[in-house]
Amino acid sequence: MMMFIQCLTLMLLYGGGVGGVTITRLSVPRTVLANTSSVTMDCVYTVPDQQRLGLVVKWYVDMVHLVYQWIPPQKPQALGLLSDRVDTSYKAAREWWAEYRAIRITKLDPTLSGDYSCTVSTYEDEDTSTAPLLVWVPSSSVRVHYWRTSATQVNVTCVARNVAPRPDFTLYTLYPDRNRMDVGSVGRMEASRGGGLWDVGEWGLIDWARTPPDTVVGCIVTVQLTKYRDIHETIYDPNLPIITTTTTTTTTTTPRPRHSSNLANNAPSTGASLLDFSGLFGAANRGSRRRAGWYLKSLSGLFLGLYHWRRGHL
Ligand SMILES: *[C@@H]1O[C@H](CO)[C@@H](O)[C@H](O)[C@H]1NC(C)=O
Ligand SMILES: *[C@@H]1O[C@H](CO)[C@@H](O)[C@H](O)[C@H]1NC(C)=O
Repeated sequence: MMMFIQCLTLMLLYGGGVGGVTITRLSVPRTVLANTSSVTMDCVYTVPDQQRLGLVVKWYVDMVHLVYQWIPPQKPQALGLLSDRVDTSYKAAREWWAEYRAIRITKLDPTLSGDYSCTVSTYEDEDTSTAPLLVWVPSSSVRVHYWRTSATQVNVTCVARNVAPRPDFTLYTLYPDRNRMDVGSVGRMEASRGGGLWDVGEWGLIDWARTPPDTVVGCIVTVQLTKYRDIHETIYDPNLPIITTTTTTTTTTTPRPRHSSNLANNAPSTGASLLDFSGLFGAANRGSRRRAGWYLKSLSGLFLGLYHWRRGHL
């Protein structure tokens, strides 16, 4: 009997799992498209009557960044990453001790992706629950390009711009006999555009001698956890100059007539930095002009190479 009473006292003192704060449901959408008008994340909890006076509700991003705080009877506050982005007048419940437990976010962009934790505490107890949120943006443009980098190989590069988070790529060729082959990815390049957005590219190599004319060269871009899927295809023409964009030389086996244009601006220059490849796939490279653009840019590489060569020999 004595023992029983001791146990009971302990339970009353420490609240145990039964008498303290308990988060019963945390609702955070797994994925949200950026610019969705608003998203509400709710943190539903129970608190025993006698503990409600010391109640504090806090939301954190990635465990350490405090983004929302409500200490009744004060008004809730949005902080840090979420300052100016929360509708602090939004009430999730009528009970005074639960009114402002939820956050309604109004301006969603990819910088808000992360793990959201709700922490509910009283003087006696505390409970925390965490769930991930992914704010994504479909790419504003997906392009696939190819060029011959040696006598035997053709480089296939796919680029997705203005996308979040960083996407996955599948490069493939579809032969005229309908056979499909994956082009193994060899390299990847990426550059942050700020605001959580990325320009990302991935490239692989195909065999020049084994790729017949009219093969489809394609790229599928997907974003984890979403249904987003962007496909871009181009028709392969093996009649390609060999372009090598190494440090100083640019050569070709099939010289072409000069086009008038400010070629140097688009010239693929040294190395393989994203900057170069931005130059290669500039805004002019669109729609039906895609091919023409490609030749122009390949040629610009040639002329730049010749220019450097001549300078070196004068
Ligand atoms: C979101 O809205 C802003 C402002 O209206 C706009 O600049 C931005 O391009 C939009 N982003 C997307 C992914 O639609
Ligand atoms: C293929 O093209 C990409 C994009 O420009 C470049 O970064 C990469 O170095 C190229 N790979 C080869 C082997 O030429």
